[in-house]
Amino acid sequence: MKTSNKLKNTPKISLLGIIGDPIKHSLSPAMHNAALEKLALPYAYLPFQVSSKELKSFFLKAKKWNLVGFNVTIPHKEAVLLFLKKISPEAKLMGAVNTIYQKKGVWYGDNTDGRGYLTSLSTETKFHPRGKRIVILGAGGAARAVICSLALKSPRAIILLNRTEEKASALAQEFSNKFKKIHFEALPLEKESCQIVFPDTHLLINTTSIGLNGTHFDKLPLKHLPKTAIVSDLVYRPLKTKLLKQAEKLGLKIHPGIGMLLHQGALAFKLWTHHQPPLKIMQKALLDAL
Ligand code: ATR
Repeated sequence: MKTSNKLKNTPKISLLGIIGDPIKHSLSPAMHNAALEKLALPYAYLPFQVSSKELKSFFLKAKKWNLVGFNVTIPHKEAVLLFLKKISPEAKLMGAVNTIYQKKGVWYGDNTDGRGYLTSLSTETKFHPRGKRIVILGAGGAARAVICSLALKSPRAIILLNRTEEKASALAQEFSNKFKKIHFEALPLEKESCQIVFPDTHLLINTTSIGLNGTHFDKLPLKHLPKTAIVSDLVYRPLKTKLLKQAEKLGLKIHPGIGMLLHQGALAFKLWTHHQPPLKIMQKALLDAL
């Protein structure tokens, strides 16, 4: 059979994608495919519904499918560590991977969540963590990613407020052992704790799922924050959460969660394709998909 010249010249498509369970609500395919199309790169980005039981066989099949890189989301961010040859120092510190890429046929793991958060924070608010006092609401996986990246930039103090105080204490202890010059503290997520820590806070970050789809914090006394404080929310559905609206009303600077999603994706895109990510196109795709 003869192959036409046109077909011969068609570049071979490589696959990129995201694995998770569930995965159908992920905005990453829309964001990455828009960027790939804009730069006319020979990749397609697909969502893969993979259960925990299927993870091992997914890794075995991935190379046969010409899958050259992929994102990892809940519940696999920790479990994938087992299947990787090398992981970045930041992913090691976080104990979680969100981006996997291939180098000479070997799987490498990185985590762009924290760097994506910091890039978004600094470009949108000009905030730099060095010497600052930062309060974090929540002590789960998202909090871990953000704490790691912030800690690497030498803030003065990181204070964790969480509904389950023991989880915040364990996280504070773990990071305090790793970053001896930073003051870590854990308190219950209660009005009284906020009244104590807010007056000295430069940046307040919500890493919990409160705010998602219109839910809201019960009596978070933002009025105790200094007028110069920034309020940042990792939740991006809705784009402006009730927490951000409340902060805005008090005249505080706000930082919405969509920027972290954009920049973690942009950093992954660069790792896979070695091309400069088209940020505006990616942002538009995200906003359209939302
Ligand atoms: P993620 O990976 O998104 O961070 P996670 O690891 O399950 O998810 O962590 C969720 C965080 O949101 C936790 O800090 C959780 O508090 P608990 O440790 O007490 O569970 C917090 N969270 C979720 N729903 C909450 C609610 N209704 N009120 C207070 N905190 C909540």
